[in-house]
Amino acid sequence: MATILITGANRGLGLEFCKQYAAEGANVIACCREPQKATALAQLAKEYTNISVFALDLSDLVQIDQFAKQLDGTAIDVLLNNAGVYGDTSGHGFGHLDYCEWQKTMSINVFAPVKMAEAFLPHLQRGTQKKIVAISSLMGSMTDNGSGGSILYRSSKAALNAAMKSVAIDNRAKKIAVLILHPGWVKTDMGGSNAPMESPESVKKMRETIATFALEQSGTFLRFDGKSLPW
Ligand SMILES: NC(=O)c1ccc[n+]([C@@H]2O[C@H](COP(=O)([O-])OP(=O)(O)OC[C@H]3O[C@@H](n4cnc5c(N)ncnc54)[C@H](OP(=O)(O)O)[C@@H]3O)[C@@H](O)[C@H]2O)c1
Repeated sequence: MATILITGANRGLGLEFCKQYAAEGANVIACCREPQKATALAQLAKEYTNISVFALDLSDLVQIDQFAKQLDGTAIDVLLNNAGVYGDTSGHGFGHLDYCEWQKTMSINVFAPVKMAEAFLPHLQRGTQKKIVAISSLMGSMTDNGSGGSILYRSSKAALNAAMKSVAIDNRAKKIAVLILHPGWVKTDMGGSNAPMESPESVKKMRETIATFALEQSGTFLRFDGKSLPW
């Protein structure tokens, strides 16, 4: 059975990924900042013994290295970099940008997933599927940006896309496939209540896209259902 490592596993899309992968029998390494507060995830881990919960704060790159060391020798099939922050807050648009928040947003949305890819490369090489998934956003697309705003979030996802494109090229010879994936606009704490899609539908479609994704497609930016998206 496949082993999937999921970041931001305590709520939103991450929790739903845990639920669906666990239900299909995969070994799920569920990472979250504060396991003692992650009640929904703890409940899920009671239901499915194939979920193991670990503490991981992605703002701490040293912790990422330590965690990778802790899992030394473990084969990982899919590294699912799901955790993310929005960063932008009302009243902090252009003219009033919060640079401290911007740094934090870049740290969680860009540095952490790339660091995870570096730290867990040996584990992925031991795995069968050898896939890195970066949950990005269409808001990182320059072509799609017709409304402006959200400078922190948009720039972080655009940077994530650029970085992951290089991670794909740099690791192609090692047969590591990198998928940059947009989940759609989904009802979660981040997506809000007006979002048209529920988490189970988005995650089901993303899982199908992840399952069929092949090395030849590495470095592409796809929607939840596998449709190609513009940078
Ligand atoms: N929902 C949408 O419509 C939508 C659209 C496009 C892209 N996305 C992307 O999809 C991914 C999941 O989003 P979501 O909608 O599920 O958001 P969410 O409900 O706000 O969940 C975000 C997750 O990221 C975790 N996280 C934040 N900072 C962290 C840190 N320093 N260390 C570890 N974990 C951290 C959160 O943990 P805590 O509970 O500890 O904060 C939480 O588990 C994100 O990358 C997001 O950008 C979402």
